[in-house]
Parts: sequence; C-alpha cells; structure tokens
Amino acid sequence: MTIDLTIYAQRRARLLEKMQCGIVIIPTAPEVARNGDTHYGYRYDSNFYYLSGFAEPEAVLVLIADQDDHRQPQAILFCREKNPEREVWDGYRAGPDAAKEQFGFDAAYPIAQLDEKLAELMGNQAALFYPLGHDAAWDRRILKLRGEVQAKVRSGIRAPDEIRDVRTLLNEMRLFKDEHELAVMRRAAAISAQAHRRALQFTRPEQFEYQIEAEFLHEFCRHGARHPAYPTIVAGGANACVLHYVGNNAVLSDGDLLLIDAGCEMDGYASDITRTFPVNGRFSAAQREVYEIVLAAQAAAIAAARPGNTWDAPHDAALRVLAQGFIDLKLCQGSVDEVLESESYKRFYMHRTGHWLGMDVHDVGDYKTGDNWRALQPGMVFTVEPGCYIRPADDVPQALWNIGIRIEDDVAITAQGNEVLTAAAPRAVVDIEELMRA
Ligand code: GLY
Ligand code: MN
Ligand code: MN
Repeated sequence: MTIDLTIYAQRRARLLEKMQCGIVIIPTAPEVARNGDTHYGYRYDSNFYYLSGFAEPEAVLVLIADQDDHRQPQAILFCREKNPEREVWDGYRAGPDAAKEQFGFDAAYPIAQLDEKLAELMGNQAALFYPLGHDAAWDRRILKLRGEVQAKVRSGIRAPDEIRDVRTLLNEMRLFKDEHELAVMRRAAAISAQAHRRALQFTRPEQFEYQIEAEFLHEFCRHGARHPAYPTIVAGGANACVLHYVGNNAVLSDGDLLLIDAGCEMDGYASDITRTFPVNGRFSAAQREVYEIVLAAQAAAIAAARPGNTWDAPHDAALRVLAQGFIDLKLCQGSVDEVLESESYKRFYMHRTGHWLGMDVHDVGDYKTGDNWRALQPGMVFTVEPGCYIRPADDVPQALWNIGIRIEDDVAITAQGNEVLTAAAPRAVVDIEELMRA
C-alpha cells in the first residue's frame, strides 16, 4: 500500500492547532536487545510514527507552535546520520537531508545534536508537550535540558513554565481513525481473517498448537504483515480457559475445542480476531450450545455498536445474553437481573467485551468523559469479544468442563451503524463446519 506522506503533515498541523503554542518533543521507541548481538524486531513508537511516518530507530520529532511570535510552525526531525560502513551491515538509513526532503520536515539534524539543539529550541517556549512518564530515562533527560535552559535566565531566556503530557491531545486524535487509517485497518483485518480461514482448513487432531500458529505466521508474512499485533494464542481444550495462554505447545485432541486469538499488524495498525472451533471439525451438542450463546451475545453487542449509543452499550447487550445463557446452562442461578446484579456471571466471563483498536492492539483513548461512558462516534474502532470459560468444578455440569469460547471481531463505527472489518473469518457453526469439511 502506498502511503501518502501528506497525512503526517496534516496530523502535525492538527496537533499544533490544538496546542496553540509551545514545543512538542516525541522520541521514537528504542531498539530492544533479545540476547547477545540480536534485537527484537524493531517497532517504532506509535505516537512518533503517527506524526512522522518515519520508521527508523534513534529518532526524535520536535514540533514548534509559536503563535505568539507569528512564526511559522516548525516540524524538525532528529535522526541517524548516513553511515556507509554501518549501512553495509544494517542497511539503508535515510540521514537528515533525505529524511527532510522525503518526509516533508522543515529541518532535520543528526541525532547526536539533539541535546544542544533542544536546549536552544526550548528557550522562550511557554509550554513543553511530551509523553511525560512514558520512559524514565527520557524524563530525566528532558528535565535536565529544561534545567540548562533555566540556567540561562540572566541572558533573558526563559524555560517552559509548564510540562504537559502530549498524549492527552494525541490519544484523542488517534481514537478517531481517518480514511487512510481505516483503509490500512481493513487490509490488516482481511489478512488476519484469511489466516483464520487457513487455520480452519489445516487443523486436525494430533497436531500441536504451534503447528497451527505456524499457519498464521505464514499467512501474515506472505501478505507483507511481518509481525503479529500481539502474541498469538492457540489454545486447545482446557488451555482455552487461560485467557493469556501463549504456551502453544500442547497436542490437539479429538473432541476438544480450539480457541485461536491471532491478528497481524499491517503498516503500524493492529487487527485482533478470535475464533473457536472443534478440532475434529464437528461441534458436540454441549460445545454447540455454549458456542451459540456466545455468538448470540456477540451479535447483540455488534447491533448495539452504533452512533448515539455509549461505549458500554455493546458490553451491556452481550452481558444480558450471556447471563440468560448461563442460567439456561445451569451455570448461574436466578433471573438475568440477579445474575447481573450479583456479578455471578464473572466466574465464567471475567473480561470486558472490547477495547479500542488502532496502532496499539489495546489502543489509546478515554472510555469515559467525566463519570459517563463516552458516546460512540464514526471513526472509532474497537473489538467485540464476548466469551465463556468453564473450568471443571463439582457444581458445574460435567459436559461443559473445559469449554472455553471467545468470538472476537473488529468493528468500526460509521454514520449509519458499524462496519465489521473482520467479517471474512467464518463464525456461524454451519460455515465453520463446512469450511473444515472442505
Ligand atoms: N488479543 C488481545 C485481546 O484480545 O485483547
Ligand atoms: Mn481484543
Ligand atoms: Mn484478541
């Protein structure tokens, strides 16, 4: 997918408009060592990339909105210098000159000049916007630089009075996905949905969970999505009742269910899909009964995902269906209202029904304004992921033991209602069984 670099300039302009005046400093993420001389696959900082489109490590973005002086806003990049020798080993680095041209910054400097230039740029800025508290080492560095600026007070230079967390503004911007972001998220969702279809076709009893994980990595990578958005969960039988199971090393048994929570990251955006299906291709009566309850809960939640409703409406809708289902299954006692009031459902459904989705799998953005759940609005994207996890216990019907089911889709709020980005991954019992037979 070709990326139009003007979107980053537009986002920078919007942020500067919200700030009105002051300086923004946003470092990208550090490289992280995995073991001797090797690193984890590099992932830039989401906020840095959101405003720059620049994917190299060792870079810092500085923005200046100086409306009092009527100077033009400035976007400045600090990045690694060209280095022919290092490039032989590690590959291309843009260097400040090419980065400035290519990405449309007003200026770009070598990262080695960061402290010296920042001390200059901070001078006489009223406020400093920065991801305060995100990284202790950066906090110390920024405070030290501010201290150096303060020491120049006798030359008439003032340090920023205020330090503010830039994420308050950025999180709100990132919560509303623009057309470019929605296009990338549709692509990520489509690749992940295709990988779930592939898994349905590959799964057989006696395979190991990691063999199914391999099919996901294969499908993601061959479409250019080099990394999963989060650790892939392939959980057969009882493992499905461990919410963050990532062992993925057990053998799959005939008669068990398989829960897979897997999604790729594409161009910096996450997808997040869970499907649950029988290892042998046929739901047992008990599995099917529980599955249909979770599926109905998901349908109710998705129907409630529309403008005008609040963030909590899909969760409430799912809970009512689950509560009735748990009563029918003899897992919970009393009326739906009693089950909800006593929260006895939490023994079998202990998480919420979704989270914002975007550059981070659990994406940024407030869920409440003041004390109230916020209203759903077009451009918001989130997951809808009800589930049911039944551990063996004397007071639980034995036919239900070790059934763990979650069904998770990615939903974008539109003007009319919603768009399910991940609909290509089958979830109806007949569709799952048919694809597994094929
Ligand atoms: N895969 C992470 C989540 O579902 O929240
Ligand atoms: Mn999720
Ligand atoms: Mn998930």
